[in-house]
Amino acid sequence: MTLHEVYKDYFRIGAAVNTKTVLEDKDLISTHFNSITAENEMKFELLHPRENEYTFEAADSIVDFAKQHNIEMRGHTLVWHNQTPRWVFENESGSLVTREVLLNRLQEHIKTVMEHFKDPFYSWDVVNEAVEDHGNFLLRKSPWLEIIGEDFIDKAFYFAKEANPVSNLYYNDYNESHPEKREKIYKLVEGLVARGVPIDGIGLQGHWNLNNPSIEDIRKAIERYASLGLKLEITEMDISVFDFEDTRTDLVQPTNQMLEIQAEKYENVFKLFREYSEHIESVTFWGVSDRYTWLSDFPVKDRKNWPLVFDKDGKPKKSFESITDFF
Ligand code: XIL
Repeated sequence: MTLHEVYKDYFRIGAAVNTKTVLEDKDLISTHFNSITAENEMKFELLHPRENEYTFEAADSIVDFAKQHNIEMRGHTLVWHNQTPRWVFENESGSLVTREVLLNRLQEHIKTVMEHFKDPFYSWDVVNEAVEDHGNFLLRKSPWLEIIGEDFIDKAFYFAKEANPVSNLYYNDYNESHPEKREKIYKLVEGLVARGVPIDGIGLQGHWNLNNPSIEDIRKAIERYASLGLKLEITEMDISVFDFEDTRTDLVQPTNQMLEIQAEKYENVFKLFREYSEHIESVTFWGVSDRYTWLSDFPVKDRKNWPLVFDKDGKPKKSFESITDFF
């Protein structure tokens, strides 16, 4: 049985792909996944590196792959503080643009991108990671906030709705299951809903590790967000074998114990997802196999990690068995 077949009555099963993995892991992707997300190719700096210049080729090749294999897509991402070029916020003399100019640029970008990518996109991450992790501020400092003000989020959703009334529009964030951040995300989205902003769902990135967050905290996050009456997607899931504080760099392969605990964690989170499947539209892994994962370079540079359910040779790991063996 393939992953998406096993989960067909629950939610879509997705993977983040890039121009390299769609070639190298073509069979693995088309066999197991019925949703894909471009890992970087639809971010602002890759699609729109200079004013009036769009570079759609890399992203288009991923969309072509999806269409060829009948795979749906999530769009990622329209507004973010990272991977956004400086020109967006500056005028020719290098000083910051006005609110009006930035709103026009934002609207133009969203319109062009969302009109370019229609089929087969069922969801878009309209705003990514706008909430501050710690302290009293609700929103993270960024040029979007500084130049436009707090309503840059509302505006982005309105622009997105106008450009594409069909796709589901998402607010997406990480540390989403941490109680303090969870309440901030809740507060932000509660405000959007109360103001009638066209938002359809909350994306829980799901960058987790063997010990954190606990299943109970993930459950509380799912319940809290679902109580807003919105859809949910798990958008970037991986389970690092290292705790966040662990900066060891000497492992050349994962220990058996790590793989056992990882399989148990995957088993428990997928059990939880099945329980809440009426709210969950998709579960996407942030990568395809352990051969390539962004975590082999983050947060520690050049340290290999093994966070996914297929090993470096594309073979199913114990973690794969633990999420498919539940009948
Ligand atoms: C990461 C990509 O995987 C890397 O290749 C890139 O260098 C940095 O971005 N949250 C997100 C994703 O929303 O876009 C990030 O993707 C991972 C964290």
